[in-house]
Order: sequence, then structure tokens, then C-alpha cells
Amino acid sequence: MPENMKQAVVYQIYPKSFSSHRQQATGDLLGVVDRLDYLAWLGVDYLWLTPFYCSPQKDNGYDVSDYYRIDPAYGSMADFELLLAEARQRGIGIMLDIVVNHTSTEHAWFRQALKGRDNFYRDFYIWRDQPNNWQSKFGGSAWAFEPESGQYYLHLFDQTQADLNWENPQLRQAVFEMMRFWADKGVAGFRLDVINLISKDPAFSEDDSDGRHFYTDGPRVHEYLQQMHREVFAGRELLTVGEMSSTSLAHCIDYSHPERRELSMTFNFHHLKVDYPQGQKWQLGRFDFVGLKRILSDWQQGMHAGGGWNALFWCNHDQPRVVSRFGDEGQYRQVSAKMLATALHGLQGTPYLYQGEEIAMANPAFQHIEELRDVESLNAYQQLLASGLDRAQAMAVIRQKSRDNSRTPMQWDNSRFAGFSQTQPWLRLADDAGHINVAAALADPDSVLHHYRRLIALRKQYPVLADGDYRCLTPEHPSLWVYTRRSAAEMLLVISHFGAEAQSYRLPEGVIPEGWQAELLLSNYPAPPAGWQWQLRPWHSLLYRFYPVTPP
Ligand code: NOJ
Repeated sequence: MPENMKQAVVYQIYPKSFSSHRQQATGDLLGVVDRLDYLAWLGVDYLWLTPFYCSPQKDNGYDVSDYYRIDPAYGSMADFELLLAEARQRGIGIMLDIVVNHTSTEHAWFRQALKGRDNFYRDFYIWRDQPNNWQSKFGGSAWAFEPESGQYYLHLFDQTQADLNWENPQLRQAVFEMMRFWADKGVAGFRLDVINLISKDPAFSEDDSDGRHFYTDGPRVHEYLQQMHREVFAGRELLTVGEMSSTSLAHCIDYSHPERRELSMTFNFHHLKVDYPQGQKWQLGRFDFVGLKRILSDWQQGMHAGGGWNALFWCNHDQPRVVSRFGDEGQYRQVSAKMLATALHGLQGTPYLYQGEEIAMANPAFQHIEELRDVESLNAYQQLLASGLDRAQAMAVIRQKSRDNSRTPMQWDNSRFAGFSQTQPWLRLADDAGHINVAAALADPDSVLHHYRRLIALRKQYPVLADGDYRCLTPEHPSLWVYTRRSAAEMLLVISHFGAEAQSYRLPEGVIPEGWQAELLLSNYPAPPAGWQWQLRPWHSLLYRFYPVTPP
């Protein structure tokens, strides 16, 4: 893994919505090249681009029909090579999204597989004569009937995303060969889509839920990742992050412990389910703040103690915008976005910043289902109607939960299509693009954008951000999250107020080591008076550093 991993910050790009060089409805790779100076100024080390391979776009590129070719909608291989070179010149590495739990049913392997039960590629997929009760994560049965052969194939996601059969050694070799192709081109890392779902329990048993127990962190997943490490990662400096669906702490330690030679780090999603009432995503819910702290604290301490490494994130292309979700998208948008930024970037792990988060983009308040494009949201809407909700009620849920919340075009300036393109974009722009945009944020030294830039720089300056242990001082407090990060030579104190009401807080005795002095590194309000008791303002955030007067 790369040496800089513990100081690095990754910026996630959803190319379809980032920037259109060709002034079309969708973004493209040259659009990313156009914005590299901005990303270098921000200080990020890696760009993770979500898939831009050939794809019928049923799931916006997570349905790959050719892993070796770039979808013409995004540009050409020459454009990609230019992006790699231009990014490298600015000290930025490009990370690719590898989607190998499934392919599109338009992939050549699946088309071959359809030719008959004895075709070589048939066994690249998972076929059964009878379906079991496993459910697709996008709704409905996880099995689709294929009339020619009279069998069912497994699809944990959309019907057009057929699951690959990792039990087959030749399939594994085909995947590794493809990954080596991109590694040889000079990419700096890989993000591995739902990689903890690749090993299915061969019994294909049923349970009383949706079947996830039989394929989440499945029986051979660590073996497969170790093989991937040997075949693709070994001898190369690659940053690798696995997206882990419904995983456990123990597994994530194993996935990311350097001695096990699997991955550099893992994404888990437990902290983003604190607004799922009874675990149900498609229901309106307020978020459980104490639960959020508990989950993040458990992972901070558990990964630190176990030698694993966390990927830190509030946002991605599958999540609503964090300022709408855990902050205040109205009056306190700027301060609450800064508070959320500091709270996350103070933790141990590698922070991921999703396009637009750095300017506090919010959910766009979708009004009509016709405005949405996401397959999961469109399915969910139909299911909500079928469950008895009326259109307005169903739309209220979609407005809060949809993945399209984060997929609206990036807001670059206050021009007609926000500098994203000169054509009507594929998904509508948020209404606030006139004043929430990069140009405005660059011009305002007090903006959320400048705050993120300082946080990114701090990570490179203070080793305690990478190494320090974690302790939460307010586990049960209804609005305060106060934690320390401590190493032998330094300590950080991060105070985050999740709320608009006035709040006072006094630091307990003994937290600050005897004889250490303090400096305020960052705040979202002018510096408070000196002392260890604060009258906190709405969504207040304070980041202090302590250090011995004479180094130990
Ligand atoms: C996770 C990706 O982030 C999401 O966008 C996609 O729909 C599923 N995996 C299936 O590939």
C-alpha cells in the first residue's frame, strides 16, 4: 500500500455529474481534466472515479458490459490516459471503481452463458433450477428466469446485473487479468464495489430475512481477496478500498490488516443507517445522534485496537447529502457543514470527500417522481405506492432517501447550468446553484470550501491525526460529540455541537495532560475566550491541539 495512505485524502467523482467538457447532458473524462487545478488546490491526493466503462447505464455504470473499454459517453482511452498523466503531474493518483460482484447482462460473458448450459461462460454466473427466497437489494426476488435454458440466475442488484460465480477459478483469473490491465496503465488504486458479497454460501439456503447472511462476508471472501492481492496488488503501490455491505468490525479488521494482505481499508455503512427506522431505509426517520456516536466510536476504537484501517465518509453517490441529513440545510448551512467536516476529518482513517460536499451542496428537494433517474429510487417509489402510501407520502420518503439527492450536477458557478455544461443536464440541477457554487466559495475565505482545504492540510501537518487513539468524552449527550485523539507527543480535542440551541460545555478535569499547552487549530466561529468551558453557538465546532511545552 502507498506510504502516504495515512495522510491521504480521497476525492470522489461521479463523472456523469461532475463536469461536461463537451457541453453535453452528461459529464465526461475531459471535464475532470478541466477541473484538476481546482482539485490540486484543494489538496486531495487521489480521485476515485465511479465507473465509466461501457455500460447500458441501468445502474449508472455499475452494470458493466465491457471492463476494457470506456463508454463513449465519457470519452476515449486517450482521454483517460490524458487524465492519468495530467493528474500525476499534479501529484494526484486516479482510483478506478472495480465492479466484479456482477456484470451487466449485456456483457459478452453473459451473452455467451445464454448460449447453453455447456458453454464455457455458463459457470461464470450463478444458475439454479429453482429460486430461493433471497431478495434483490433493489427490490423483488434476487432470481430472474431465463426461458431458453429454463434456469434462474442470481442478481443481488438489478435484474440486468447478474452475479458472478467466484467459485470458478477461471472467472477469478479473468477478473485479475482485467485489474492488471488497469494497474499496468498506471492507476493508483481501486475501489471495489460490494466486494464482501462475492462469496456465496454454496448451499443457497433460505432464512427468515432476505438471504444476506448467506453471502455477506461469505465463506471464501478472505481467500479470494488474498488471491487478488497476490495476483494484482503485490509489488505495486496501490491504494485499495473495499465497499463492505452490512459487514462486521471483525471482518473489516481482517480485510484491512496489512499483515493479512487483502485491502488497504474498508467502507462500512453502519453509521449511515441511524436514520433507518427499524432498519428500514425507505421510511421517514429522524437520525439517532447517540447511536451515530456509538457506532463511530466503536469503529474508531475497534479498528485502532485490531490494526485495521477505516475509510471515513459522510457522503457518496448512494447517500443523501450530509448537510441535509445530519446538519441544517437552512439557516445554519455553512456552519453545520463545517462542523460535520471537522467532526469526520478529526477521526482516524482516510477521509473521502464526495463532489459538492466541499461547498455544502444539499438535497435538491425533488418534487415529482419524473425528476428522478435512479433505478433503486424508482423501484422504491412503486413499492411505497403498492404498500398503501399516496403519491405525496411516497414522494416525501424519496425526497429524503433517494440516491439521486447526491447525483445532481456539480455546481461550479452561477451560469445557467452552473458551469456543469451548456446543455440541460441529465438530472436536474438543485435550485440553489446560483449562490452555492465553487466560484462563490473560492471567493469567500470563510467558506466551507476553505474550511475543507484547511482540514486536508492539517492531516498532512499533524501525525496525531493518523496515529492518535480515540476517546469519546460525551457518549450519551443528546447534542455534543466531544472526542480526543492522543499520541505520545500530541493530543487533539474535537468539539462538535449537533444542534442550534445554545449549549455550554466544560472539559472534565484531567483530560489535558499536565503541563501541555494548547492551540486552536480550527473553528467555525471566531475564537472563543481562553479557558476550558465554552458557551457553544449553533452547530459550533472547535478543534484544539495540545503539545508538551518541552517535547517528551
Ligand atoms: C454499490 C454502488 O455504490 C451502487 O451505486 C451500486 O448500485 C451497487 N453497488 C451495485 O453495483
